[in-house]
Amino acid sequence: MAQLWGGRFTKETDQIVYQFNASIDFDKRLYREDIEGSIAHVRMMARQGILTEKERDDIVQGLTGIREDIESGKLEATKEYEDIHSFVEANLIQRIGDTGKKLHTGRSRNDQVALDMRLYIRRELGEVDRLLNHLLHTLLNMMEEHIDTYMPGFTHLQKAQPITLALHIGAYFEMFKRDRLRLADIYERMNYCPLGAGALAGTTYPLDREYSARLLGFAGPTANSMDSVSDRDYVIEFLSALSMIMMHLSRFSEEVIIWNTNEYQFVELDDAYSTGSSIMPQKKNPDIAELVRGKTGRVYGALMSMLTTMKGLPLAYNKDMQEDKEVTFDAIDTAKGCISLFDGMAATMKFRKDVMEKSARNGFTNATDAADYLVNHGVPFRDAHGIVGRLVLRCMEKNCSIEEMGLDELKAISPVFEEDIYDVVSLKTCVEKRLTKGGPGQAMMEQEIADSRQYLDNSRIIGES
Ligand code: ARG
Repeated sequence: MAQLWGGRFTKETDQIVYQFNASIDFDKRLYREDIEGSIAHVRMMARQGILTEKERDDIVQGLTGIREDIESGKLEATKEYEDIHSFVEANLIQRIGDTGKKLHTGRSRNDQVALDMRLYIRRELGEVDRLLNHLLHTLLNMMEEHIDTYMPGFTHLQKAQPITLALHIGAYFEMFKRDRLRLADIYERMNYCPLGAGALAGTTYPLDREYSARLLGFAGPTANSMDSVSDRDYVIEFLSALSMIMMHLSRFSEEVIIWNTNEYQFVELDDAYSTGSSIMPQKKNPDIAELVRGKTGRVYGALMSMLTTMKGLPLAYNKDMQEDKEVTFDAIDTAKGCISLFDGMAATMKFRKDVMEKSARNGFTNATDAADYLVNHGVPFRDAHGIVGRLVLRCMEKNCSIEEMGLDELKAISPVFEEDIYDVVSLKTCVEKRLTKGGPGQAMMEQEIADSRQYLDNSRIIGES
């Protein structure tokens, strides 16, 4: 056991207590952030005359060596250290001797871990943003390809009105675009440096917090020392944004699963993104979509977990906060994996245009258009709604569609119907005349695609200049 705090103790920590307390198993993934933060701290201290330039150079060299050795696999953070902070510090002392003992001057593990987590989350905001950006490109390409792929639009999972696949995919484009904007907002709010807050009340050393914040690429130092070490809002906000992303992926997955059923057959998944059954030879299952849907619960769980962990904590640091790591790391890994797998699955799906179009023709998706026809000929909408309702009932008795009814039959239901009704209720007209902004009509969809393309061309990944 290598601890940073043995002085005031007369007895060794119980082994089981030690294990229970330790976080090295999971916080070792913060080694880069921990070292980066320490280097900035040391540079700032030398600038302020708290360390000599020689001490600074020795420490920076030692820390850089540790990072290289971890990266090359030469050095491993093992269980005899309590956490990543103890591990790096102990290793530094082993390497460079007594100068290493000066690293922790003017610092506490409380502001150190607060900084490490911030650096980590800040980087991961960029990583998730990059994956979403890639997914948006995939979706936009699909929209371009399917601008005239007709399909039924649903409400209550009942056929409602005819739409295009471009419109349907475009809805998800908007969702994931908002998810990116959310990440950017979080970045703006969280990009402040807690280093120098000390244990909770700052320090008597003349630290230049502005300088270390600048070295680490933050917009500035955090304001209040107690808030600096107690705040995990940005973790919760990130988990909330990840939950929203997962919710969107899960809805989309659910649709892919439905579209992939034998009953729908709208889409065929690529073999590389489907799996078989161990007993039923005919099966090709949408496991990836199901797993994405399933893993959503795990990410929500992380959000609930962190909200609950934080809700009763008095200021400032409490060890409860060590619980932020495992769930957050897991949620980030899970969400990133899901975004990129979903992306790959979506990019390789083959849509059955013929089946989708046929489905759009059935189920009276043009009933609203028939009612609108009557309205355009002076019938009040509420009356038109009733007339077309009776028309649909009649069609169902005859097992035919509206456009298959003869004009005399139509006129028997309402004399207002004329020959031009057939064009109005044709699938193409139903879609193409929907030219409200944001609608499926080709002219509007082309505009939507152009705007989306422009957004992607101008957007930059979080953290990149
Ligand atoms: N492993 C701890 C954490 O993750 C580091 C901070 C420890 N600070 C302390 N005062 N015990 O939160």
